[in-house]
Amino acid sequence: MSRVLKVGILGATGTVGQRFILLLSQHPGFTIHALGASPRSAGKTYVKATKWKMSQAIPAEAREMVVQTCEPQYFNECDVVFSGLDADVAGDIGKCLCFILRADEMAFLKADLALFSNAKNYRTHADVPLIVPMANPSHFSLLNHQRSNYKLSKGFLVTNANCSTTGMVIPLKALQDAFGPLSKIMVTTMQAVSGAGYPGVSSLDIMDNVVPHIGGEESKMEWETLKILGGLNQDATEFDLLKTTKVSATCNRVPVIDGHTECVSIEFERRPAPSVEEVIKVMENYRTEAQELGCYSAPEQAIIVSRDEDRPQPRLDRENGKGYSVTVGRVRECNVFDIKFTLLVHNTVLGAAGSGVLLAELAQKKGLIV
Ligand SMILES: NC(=O)c1ccc[n+]([C@@H]2O[C@H](COP(=O)([O-])OP(=O)(O)OC[C@H]3O[C@@H](n4cnc5c(N)ncnc54)[C@H](OP(=O)(O)O)[C@@H]3O)[C@@H](O)[C@H]2O)c1
Repeated sequence: MSRVLKVGILGATGTVGQRFILLLSQHPGFTIHALGASPRSAGKTYVKATKWKMSQAIPAEAREMVVQTCEPQYFNECDVVFSGLDADVAGDIGKCLCFILRADEMAFLKADLALFSNAKNYRTHADVPLIVPMANPSHFSLLNHQRSNYKLSKGFLVTNANCSTTGMVIPLKALQDAFGPLSKIMVTTMQAVSGAGYPGVSSLDIMDNVVPHIGGEESKMEWETLKILGGLNQDATEFDLLKTTKVSATCNRVPVIDGHTECVSIEFERRPAPSVEEVIKVMENYRTEAQELGCYSAPEQAIIVSRDEDRPQPRLDRENGKGYSVTVGRVRECNVFDIKFTLLVHNTVLGAAGSGVLLAELAQKKGLIV
């Protein structure tokens, strides 16, 4: 039996932070030890600091915990720290602000803490793995290099991907493993309002409406996919981004609470391209290291393929695999590319906090958490 890990949550009062609280309070391998948020929340009990928006009640163990500022000194006893920090304060991009507000994730790395981040800030860094747990866990190998660069004995920084990227790369990785490289990927998303955090998009903007722009989202999907589906060099010191795959993303905000829907069209390099039935079979049979190693949160099926003509739908399918499965439907031939399908990902479970939890489970199984 692995030991129970003490965990801290940065940005614990936010949308992703609340999901972390729920997932971790029900988890046998973790115990919530410290909570952090902005100076506005620090010093208050969690129940007073948080505008709780989950459909389950605040777990008893979190209610009366006192929220701290996001400084490493308050998280020193944690085996693992999860970050759901706002990108404006998570570091690098907002350096001046971070210095004043002292919430830079890099400070946690330098304090030799094991940090899993949901923020975009360090995803592009040359020595920071960007890992979707059921797509590219092999990228954990770069942590030896990161630790030697920063002279760390037990700490590290791993980022998970944007919520929409996460849902898309899991079926794409299954297909790439089975049929070789993809030459073109075209995706159009319909993203839930919880993806914008709280208070997010105002109700007057989103009710009875679709907003055809989400700042920075399209470039994130286009770039992150190339890092995640790419490899590592031989001595695991550099990422080898995909060079021949072209990705085009169009992102829309829609009036759905949770669950991002994505319409994906793909072209394979291989000729002839695989058939619809071959694609479905590969997705259904896709097994990942998280399942092979028996990670607690790994769903039975990473990808659930529906053969119903009107699925997936956010309200009906977002809880599949307790929110950890990607649901794919409408797999069919494409007249322009080879294959097209629609997928659904729970944006705050698999697309955010759940990926962090699954990454920590994988890291523990791989002996990276000491
Ligand atoms: N929502 C999603 O589906 C989703 C999916 C994937 C990734 N992400 C990423 O995850 C991160 C969190 O997103 P969210 O949707 O949870 O945002 P959110 O609801 O706006 O929450 C932001 C959190 O950051 C804290 N914070 C703000 N300023 C701070 C400061 N100066 N110092 C310390 N903490 C501060 C807030 O604390 P206070 O309550 O005290 O202000 C709150 O806990 C973002 O980087 C986002 O891009 C979100």
